Amino acid sequence: MTKTIVIKGGTIVNRASEQALDLKIENGLVAQVGKNLKGDVQLDASGCIVASGFVDLHAHLREPGQEEAETIETGSRAGALGGYTALVAMPNTDPPQDSVAVIDFVREQGKRAGLVDVVPSGCITLGRQGESLAPMAELSAAGVSLFTDDGSGVQDASLMRRALEYAKGLGVTLAQHCEVAELTKGAVMNECQCCTNLGLPGWPAIAEELMVFRDIELVRITGAAMHFLHLSTKRSVELVRAAKRDGLPVTAEVTPHHLSLTEELLASFDPVFKVNPPLRSMHDIAALKAGLIDGTIDAIATDHAPHPRRDKEMSLDMAPPGMLGLETALGVVLAEGACEVRDVVALMSWNPAKIARIDDRHGLDLVAGAVANICVFDPEIKWTIDPERMVSKSINTPYVGRNLQGRVRHTIFNGATTVVDGQAQR
Ligand code: DOR
Repeated sequence: MTKTIVIKGGTIVNRASEQALDLKIENGLVAQVGKNLKGDVQLDASGCIVASGFVDLHAHLREPGQEEAETIETGSRAGALGGYTALVAMPNTDPPQDSVAVIDFVREQGKRAGLVDVVPSGCITLGRQGESLAPMAELSAAGVSLFTDDGSGVQDASLMRRALEYAKGLGVTLAQHCEVAELTKGAVMNECQCCTNLGLPGWPAIAEELMVFRDIELVRITGAAMHFLHLSTKRSVELVRAAKRDGLPVTAEVTPHHLSLTEELLASFDPVFKVNPPLRSMHDIAALKAGLIDGTIDAIATDHAPHPRRDKEMSLDMAPPGMLGLETALGVVLAEGACEVRDVVALMSWNPAKIARIDDRHGLDLVAGAVANICVFDPEIKWTIDPERMVSKSINTPYVGRNLQGRVRHTIFNGATTVVDGQAQR
C-alpha cells in the first residue's frame, strides 16, 4: 500500500470554485476533497493556494549535448521547485529533436529523473536548418504533438506553409519562434533610442511582427493550429488579438522576463540580460499585460535557457542569449501584479496543458479521480533568490537582488511529493 498524503488547510482553486478544503491523495490520484481529512503524510498548506501543477510550454533542458549547462534531471528538479509537473522540452539540443531516437531518449531521461513529465517537442525542419521538413508524421506517431525550431524561426514561407498543411492533417500544433533573421543580424538588444546611444546593434520589433503576421496568414489558408512563442511586442499582441477575433486557431505565450524587465538593463553591458527576443520597453510590457488580461495571451512560459558560466561571461556581442526561468517564474509573475492568482493558475497550468495536449493528466480540476499533479504555493510571501541554493546547473538568472512575491511550498507529481516545504525531495 502506498502512503496517503493529505494537503491540509489550503484553498483549492478549480475552474468553477475556490474552496477552503483538505485534499487527500492515494495511489497517484486525488482520492477525496473535504474537511478534516487524515492521511499517512500531512502537508501544511495554510495560507496557500492548492492548484493543478504548472505546465511549462518552453523549457531548454539542454540534454542531449549541452549537459554542462543543464541535464534533464537538473532541469526537472528546477521545474519541480518552481511548481511544475510538466515541461515541454525545446528541440535545440545536440543532436536536435528531429528523430524518434532522440525523442525517445529525452522522454526516457525524463522518466528516469521522475520529477516532472518531460514532454519532448519535435523540430519542424531537419536539424533546425530551415531547409527541409523533419519526419513530422513519424514523430507524431511517436507521440509528439508540438513542433518547433525554437532558437530560430522557420524563414522559408513556402516550407512553413507545407509544415502547416502536414500539421493540419496530423492534428498537431506548430510553435513559432518569430524572428526574421535578415533583420536581426548581430543584434544584442531591442532597437530603440537606448541602443543607439549605447552603440549596440538593435533587434527591431518588426523582425518579430513580420513573422507573426506571415504565420497568421498561413494559418488562415491552412486551418492548422499555431502557437506563438515568447511574444515581446505591442504590435504582436495586436496581431494575435485580431487573429483570434477572426476565429483562427492561434495561441500565444509570454515569458516572465518580458513582463518584468526592460531594455535599459542592457546599459550595464551585462550578458545576463541578453535574451532572444530581447527585453523591450515599458509600452510593450503594458501591452503584454493587457493581452494576459483580455485572453489574447494564453500562457506564461519560461523560456528557461541555461548557459554555462564561461559562455555568459563573454562580451555582450559574443555571449549566447537566454536566462533561467523555472525556479523564479511564479515569484516574478506575482511580484509584477500582472494578473490575479486564479489567472496565474489558468496561464501557468490549465491553458498550457491544453496547448501541449496533455490535459488528460495535467491542468485538471482537483476533484476525486483526477491524476494528482499539484502545486501548493503561498501567493503573498515575499522573497529574494539565493543563487547558491538554486538547483539548475547554470546560474544565469537576472533576478538576483530583486523582490519576488509568491513561492512554491509543495509540489506533487503523479501522487508523489517532489517538493516539500520548498525543499526538493530528491
Ligand atoms: O534567449 C533565448 N535563448 N531565446 C531562444 O529562443 C533560445 C534560447 C536558448 O536556447 O538559449
